Parts: sequence; C-alpha cells; structure tokens
Amino acid sequence: MRVLVTGHQGYLGTVMVPELQAAGHEVTGLDSGFFADCVLGEAPAPPPGIAVDLRDVKVEQLAGFDAVVHLAALSNDPLGALAPQITYDINHHASVRLARLAREAGVRRFLYASTCSVYGAAGDGLVTEDAPLRPLTPYAESKVRVEDDVAALADSGFSPVFLRNATAFGFSPRLRADIVLNNLVGYAVLTGEVKVLSDGTPWRPLVHAQDIARAFATCLEAPAEAIHCRAYNVGTEDNNLTVAQIAQAVVEAVPDSTLLITGESGADPRSYRVDFSSARKELGFEAAWSIPEGAAELYREYVARGLTSDAFFRRFTRLAHLTALKESGVLDDELRRIGA
Ligand SMILES: NC(=O)c1ccc[n+]([C@@H]2O[C@H](COP(=O)([O-])OP(=O)(O)OC[C@H]3O[C@@H](n4cnc5c(N)ncnc54)[C@H](O)[C@@H]3O)[C@@H](O)[C@H]2O)c1
Repeated sequence: MRVLVTGHQGYLGTVMVPELQAAGHEVTGLDSGFFADCVLGEAPAPPPGIAVDLRDVKVEQLAGFDAVVHLAALSNDPLGALAPQITYDINHHASVRLARLAREAGVRRFLYASTCSVYGAAGDGLVTEDAPLRPLTPYAESKVRVEDDVAALADSGFSPVFLRNATAFGFSPRLRADIVLNNLVGYAVLTGEVKVLSDGTPWRPLVHAQDIARAFATCLEAPAEAIHCRAYNVGTEDNNLTVAQIAQAVVEAVPDSTLLITGESGADPRSYRVDFSSARKELGFEAAWSIPEGAAELYREYVARGLTSDAFFRRFTRLAHLTALKESGVLDDELRRIGA
C-alpha cells in the first residue's frame, strides 16, 4: 500500500515508519518537524517526507495514497493545558480537516492515533471500547472530538479506525522523556532515584512503541469490514499497572536505584484499567512487550547512547522543547514556523 504517515518525525512515527516499510508498504511522511533534531544517538534514515503544518495540508498532497496513518498532534496533557486552543486547532480541527481532504482525495483507510486516556477516571474495573468516554484534559477531549467527527465521514469508500493506544514506552531514536516509564528510567539513570510525584495509586495501562506500530500495521492489512469505523484499545492487560508498580519495575531494572514516592503533585484523577480483548479476538493483535523488558531496554539504550540531563529535561520533554523553540524565535505563539 502507499501510506502517508503524519507525525513521522515524532516518537512513535520514528518507530512506525520502519515497521510499515518492513511489512512492504511504500511510506511517505508528513510533519512540521518540531522534534526532527531531538534524536538520541544516530539519526534514523528518513523516508520521503512533506514538510508542512497539518493545518495547511492541501488535498493534492493526499492524492495517490491508499491509507493515511494520522499521528501528528500536540501529544500530551501538559501541552494541552498550556495552550488548549492550539491543541484543539491542531489535534481536533486540523485532524478532521485532514480526514475530510483524505476522503476527497480517494484515500480508503484512515488510521487515527487515539488514546486510552479518553476513558479518564474509570475506577478499578476493566473498560472496553463501549465504556463511557470521560476525557479529563483538553488533550483527551480533542481525541474524543476527532473520533466523533471522523466517524461521521465514514462511507463505503472511506474507512476510519480509531486506535486507542495505552501510554507508550520504550526506546525510539526520537525519544520522549515525558511519558511515565521512559521518564522514570531516565531520571533513575541520571540521579539514582526512581521518583514518583503522585501518590502512585493511579492505574496506567502501558504499551511498547513497537507494539503500537504493529497494531497499525495490522489495521492496514485487516479486511475493511473488521476496521470500518471501529475503535480498538491497543495494549495488553498484563501491562495495566499502578504508577507505584511501574516504579518498582524501574527499581529492578536500574542498578542501585532507590524508590521515592513524594505525593507532591497530589491525587491524579486520570486512572483507568483497560480491556484489550477486541483487538486480540477480532484482529489477532497481541502486544508483546512487558514492562520489565521495556525498563531493561531503556536502561540499556540510555547508558549506551549517553543520555544527558540537558537532553532529558529539555530536548526530549515535549513542553520544554516547544517552549524553547518559541523563545528562540523559531515558532510563533500559534506554533507556526516564523518566516515559513
Ligand atoms: N506516546 C504515547 O504515549 C501516546 C499514547 C496514545 C496516543 N498517542 C498519540 O500518538 C500520536 C503520536 O504520539 P508521539 O508520542 O509520537 O508524539 P510526538 O510529540 O513525539 O510526535 C508528534 C509529531 O507530530 C508532529 N506535529 C505536531 N503538530 C503538528 C502540526 N501542526 N503539523 C505537522 N506536524 C505536527 C510533531 O512535529 C511530531 O513529529 C499522537 O497523536 C499522540 O496523541 C501517543
């Protein structure tokens, strides 16, 4: 298939592109390049790419693709809280516009990177895709709105599918240090402490970036009826852990590290345990990576590639890096490239 991957220069996109290429797809990327230089170690070989802001995509740029994998977004809660309107502009309005243009251009599949955080505060029971959506942040709310609006575009020639990914972990050359396992391992490598700022009780389902990439590859190849306008949780019940349990796995992976649960950020209402059986039964998709395997991989890669504090706290932290791009005059307040 000819596949357009938006956000291909992000954390997940950098893992997804080689996975889709290995499955035989012809991949083109589309990205504004916010994090293009945020690489730990050797830079990956880039696929052909379109350097454009998602908000400015034109229908001609989408012609000739069989599928769009849509990852580009302001990708976490702190970014959404900092600039809710920009989060809605990029994550919601520009995503729905992209889907509409893709349909107009004759693209038949639209794979959307949604999130399990759409379930919000879901208590201790396992939530399936039919559970009520209770987004607690502008980021999660933007994802719910895209699911609703893009589902309304589905027709016999256009099949959207919504992959509700658990929180990702694992090594990617374009690292993110602001997601829980990557953060805890990095902080422990740099300081010797596994430091949890919440009280450690919230449930956080996790999934490896490579497993997410395989889930998307699975949805590209599944029969159209299996994915048409469906939502699938992406992850595994084995990785439904509390933050304190995740931290314990990090203590075991990082030699001589000690656990510190400070509770200083207060209670975190975002807590959900997720049922992943639909993707298993209907698509045959199983996530393979466990948390201890991921923690060990991250420890190994951070040490081998020489992770530094500066990179960890600035270049690999989405909010800090975008703030730096604004302060240095690369991006304006709307996160558009100045002079582009
Ligand atoms: N990483 C996770 O834990 C996780 C979990 C669930 C869902 N997701 C979703 O998966 C997707 C990818 O996440 P990620 O972790 O790779 O995020 P990321 O921040 O590493 O990558 C996002 C990419 O989108 C690009 N982008 C952002 N705004 C853009 C714009 N206006 N125009 C063009 N490109 C733009 C960025 O340059 C970046 O390369 C996001 O939609 C995210 O919400 C991620």
